Amino acid sequence: MTIFTAQEVRKTFTNGEIAEEILKGIDLSLHEGEITALVGASGSGKSTLLTIAAGLQPATDGQIIFDGKNLTAMNPGQIREIRASEFGFIFQSAHLVPFLTAQEQLLLMLEVSGSKLTKQQQKKEVRELLEQIGMSHRKDAYPASMSGGEKQRVAIARAIIHKPKMLFADEPTASLDSKRSKEIMELIQNLTKTLGITTLLVTHDEDMLSYADHIVTMKDGLVE
Ligand SMILES: Nc1ncnc2c1ncn2[C@@H]1O[C@H](COP(=O)(O)OP(=O)(O)O)[C@@H](O)[C@H]1O
Ligand SMILES: [Mg+2]
Repeated sequence: MTIFTAQEVRKTFTNGEIAEEILKGIDLSLHEGEITALVGASGSGKSTLLTIAAGLQPATDGQIIFDGKNLTAMNPGQIREIRASEFGFIFQSAHLVPFLTAQEQLLLMLEVSGSKLTKQQQKKEVRELLEQIGMSHRKDAYPASMSGGEKQRVAIARAIIHKPKMLFADEPTASLDSKRSKEIMELIQNLTKTLGITTLLVTHDEDMLSYADHIVTMKDGLVE
């Protein structure tokens, strides 16, 4: 089932007098519970498309439909609410809050997402997810003492602790070696399949494509 579509999405950036159309009418459908990998040369517009799809910046033209709702017709407050409660994000670096422990990062995310769980239930969810990602023994660790792989594990857990419908991941393995990259992709695959999360994954690493259900290639502002 299709849960997300981009229709005729265009994006033009203007630098001074010069306008450049980066996205030239993108159509994209994402199916529930599947991982779609978005590939293409550096500068082809992958991150631009991902951030527009995720409601982080507006399109110049076109429509984004998520779960029957037209994101492009919403006001910034409505989009923010959808982002907080229904979307999860992972980027190249973990962007953890330096003064929070692994456990606290996840508890904060639950709160921000507007979780209706009691504090006790929230703590239980966090404990179980830390267990699932193999970080139970590091629950009280601060980011400064974590390895790159550990940080990215916590970042993944933080992205899905509120059980979002969509996960947007922009080159989540770009700063890791190939062994860690595979572990991280396996983790993303396991967690998203278990929870039925729909994932849009930007990557330029060919080895990561085996984890995707679909591969979409961007070229010259269009998808092939
Ligand atoms: N905010 C912006 N202002 C102007 N140009 C931008 C902006 N964001 C991206 N671009 C340009 O859009 C093009 C595509 O960028 P990007 O989406 O980051 O590509 P990719 O992720 O595929 O490497 C690049 O030429 C980049 O310089
Ligand atoms: Mg990019």
